[in-house]
Amino acid sequence: MQIIHTVQALREWRKTAGRVAFVPTMGNLHEGHLALVREAGKHADQVVVSIFVNRLQFGQGEDFSQYPRTLQQDADKLSKENVAVIFAPDEKELYPHVEQRYNVEPPNLQNELCGKFRPGHFRGVATVVSKLFNIVEPDTACFGKKDYQQLAIIKGLVEDLNFNIRIVPVDTGRASDGLALSSRNQYLNETERTEAPRLYRELTAIAEALRQGNLAYAELENAAIQNLTAAGWTVDYVEVRHAESLKVAHAGDKDLVVLAAARLGKTRLIDNVEVHLD
Ligand code: PAF
Repeated sequence: MQIIHTVQALREWRKTAGRVAFVPTMGNLHEGHLALVREAGKHADQVVVSIFVNRLQFGQGEDFSQYPRTLQQDADKLSKENVAVIFAPDEKELYPHVEQRYNVEPPNLQNELCGKFRPGHFRGVATVVSKLFNIVEPDTACFGKKDYQQLAIIKGLVEDLNFNIRIVPVDTGRASDGLALSSRNQYLNETERTEAPRLYRELTAIAEALRQGNLAYAELENAAIQNLTAAGWTVDYVEVRHAESLKVAHAGDKDLVVLAAARLGKTRLIDNVEVHLD
């Protein structure tokens, strides 16, 4: 496994690499990332993992400067997997100008759900992912379903900008109590960690109600918001949406996803559950 830090060196390596599957990350890797890496290994002989904490996708007051940078530990974990290259550029390598001059502007979905609470976040994601796609030129790229809105935006980006890349969605990894694996879980104190699986429980309760034929979306969303608030959460949103378009769900929709974002103390957690009705 090589660690490559420059765009030029990565491009040299890419010339003779054959089929490549790509897993973009911001590092601080956990089992959820390793599941993406293992899935990537099924789609190509060579797996590239990028590690880059992308300042463009952090808003003011968010945790960009505190975001854990753990390259050595990440490399140790990846060295036990089938990974050919870690691409770990520094800030100047990807953003040589003080201000990013060209950005990739996603459609209005970027202002909904998480985007409503994190203005500019998905523009930052779409921009860095486009740059990484242009540098790595993968045949396949794996993205986790935990970041469901991000996945939808990347699918749209690949389709609309004609990236010749197959996007493979990977199921959310969970702890035994249901909590979705996330780098931000480490910010939770002991009490918060015990409380945290409630988010998934509320989403699965809505999913179950939908399967039982209760399609009163707003009532289900409000009940979950009330339960979470009563348990000490600050809820950004709980919403039932169409699973593919992420448009607000309508009666008759069969493919749904229930998404939520809420804060426990200082930690913002997101999760979602897909529901397919017959
Ligand atoms: O999901 C992430 O870790 C990031 O948003 C990504 C896709 C690596 C872009 O910085």
